[in-house]
Amino acid sequence: MSVPFFAHFYPWTKALHIIAVIAWMAGLLYLPRLFVYHCDAAPGTQTSEMFKIMEYRLQKYIMTPAMIATFAFGIVLALTPGLVDWHAGWFYVKLVAVLLLAGAHGAMSRWRKDFLADRNRHPQRFFRIVNEIPTVLMLIAVIMVVVQPF
Ligand code: HEM
Repeated sequence: MSVPFFAHFYPWTKALHIIAVIAWMAGLLYLPRLFVYHCDAAPGTQTSEMFKIMEYRLQKYIMTPAMIATFAFGIVLALTPGLVDWHAGWFYVKLVAVLLLAGAHGAMSRWRKDFLADRNRHPQRFFRIVNEIPTVLMLIAVIMVVVQPF
């Protein structure tokens, strides 16, 4: 399954894919960090309101567009001739890691809206643990696509 036309743009597609991945990962790693600090700010305080704006802007203007660009350029790469052997396992493991990252993005969006409405119920420790999940998934995704171990 490939689109020969995409071969003309391969280096550009890959560069833009990597740029989008960096921006998306920056947000996935930083937003739970903001949640950790936000837990310390009592609802209604100026600090809490400032965190709400930071969280909103990070997700709306950086993370969501970067996720869409990561997927768009990733799909074009997957359809570029000669890059993915559809019988090898690495691509499917990477795909699962990527879908779980998108799930983490969705969960963070829900927690952000809870903070926005002053109804966060999770303790700081919860967000410290959540903070580690994108790191593990990113390690899996990058090792799969670069090392292609199986
Ligand atoms: C729908 C989502 C995605 C798809 C379909 C996809 C697919 C691909 C494909 C086919 C390549 C080209 C491999 C090559 O040039 O040999 C690639 C490169 C790459 N992808 Fe993705 N990807 C996706 C998301 C991600 C995510 C979320 C990450 C990291 C967290 C990531 C990290 C990378 C990196 C670092 C490269 C460059 C590898 C190299 O230089 O060979 N990708 N991706």
